[in-house]
Amino acid sequence: MPEIVHVSLPGRAYDVRIGPGLIADAGRHIAPFLRRPKVAVISDKTVAGLHLQALKDGLATAGIEATELLLPAGEATKSWGPLEQSVEWLLDQKIERGDIVVAFGGGVIGDLVGFAAAVLRRGVRFVQIPTSLLAQVDSSVGGKTGINAPQGKNLIGAFHQPTLVLADTAVLGTLTARDFLAGYGEVVKYGLLGDADFFEWLEVNGPALAAGDMEARVEAVRRSVQMKADIVERDETEQGDRALLNLGHTFGHALEAATGYSDRLLHGEGVAIGCALAYELSARMGLCSQESPSRVRAHLKAMRMKTDLSDIPGDLPDAATLLGLMGQDKKVVQGQLRFILTRGIGEAFVTGDVPGDAVLSVLEDALRT
Ligand code: GLY
Repeated sequence: MPEIVHVSLPGRAYDVRIGPGLIADAGRHIAPFLRRPKVAVISDKTVAGLHLQALKDGLATAGIEATELLLPAGEATKSWGPLEQSVEWLLDQKIERGDIVVAFGGGVIGDLVGFAAAVLRRGVRFVQIPTSLLAQVDSSVGGKTGINAPQGKNLIGAFHQPTLVLADTAVLGTLTARDFLAGYGEVVKYGLLGDADFFEWLEVNGPALAAGDMEARVEAVRRSVQMKADIVERDETEQGDRALLNLGHTFGHALEAATGYSDRLLHGEGVAIGCALAYELSARMGLCSQESPSRVRAHLKAMRMKTDLSDIPGDLPDAATLLGLMGQDKKVVQGQLRFILTRGIGEAFVTGDVPGDAVLSVLEDALRT
């Protein structure tokens, strides 16, 4: 039996089901939501090469026919062209209001397909089948959908909650170690933002789950998703608490922008380094003891993750330029940067009250080490 986290949004409640083998069993899970035995699946070519046949077989065992559109893998797919292609393909497939669209892939596919479902016929239902760790613990849950703009990431989109999320933890075994650890950056974030016990659990169990321990993987995904669900239930559209999920992201997005959103730094890697910097900034501002950032860095290093700016290959711009890149972040409110700072492990809070000088000095020191 899969683990289940229920997201209790009024009128838009859904389950996140977590465990190995859910793709093979997808038909049984999705069938109760269908008005006719047909789904449209949108995936990327890499995921499809590895797992599409298993999904189609899993749907077929419940008598569900699937048609599929395969898009190129990679962040460039989160843009207007593939969105237009997806929506027009769904219309060609005669997908109606009562049908279900399946987003089968990582965060790029989940965000794009969720947005296509949000705008198609003013909104059709969709099921997320996330295949990366990052998508399983973060982007498939909570209803943020969208694409990137030339002006920045995720600037075009809609809140559109899925009808069901199937997080098959067995597919995590096909990720590269680097992609797995990048997703793990988001897992660590949950412990750091709101659950010191979970962080402690990760300090003990992180190496085993990275090595493939399935029970530990399911538990890490379950606890992460439960925390996300709790936050999304309190604040679906990010008027307040949901911003906590952006711990590490203000620094992380600036680093991603500075590295051209390239292979030099994956999103989850930027988040991990960003968490370490957010803790450092919090300690410098006297909000937490120096022990907290040291513990964060020690865990990232123990997991062999990118931890410091020097772990990013190639040159980085100077601290002032990085600070400027933070100003482009979508979390700017009335020109004021919103940071997620912390009073200790698991005690993050949102603030707009951060002196630019303090950020600058953290970045200058980080660039020197
Ligand atoms: N990934 C942050 C959020 O869903 O709010």
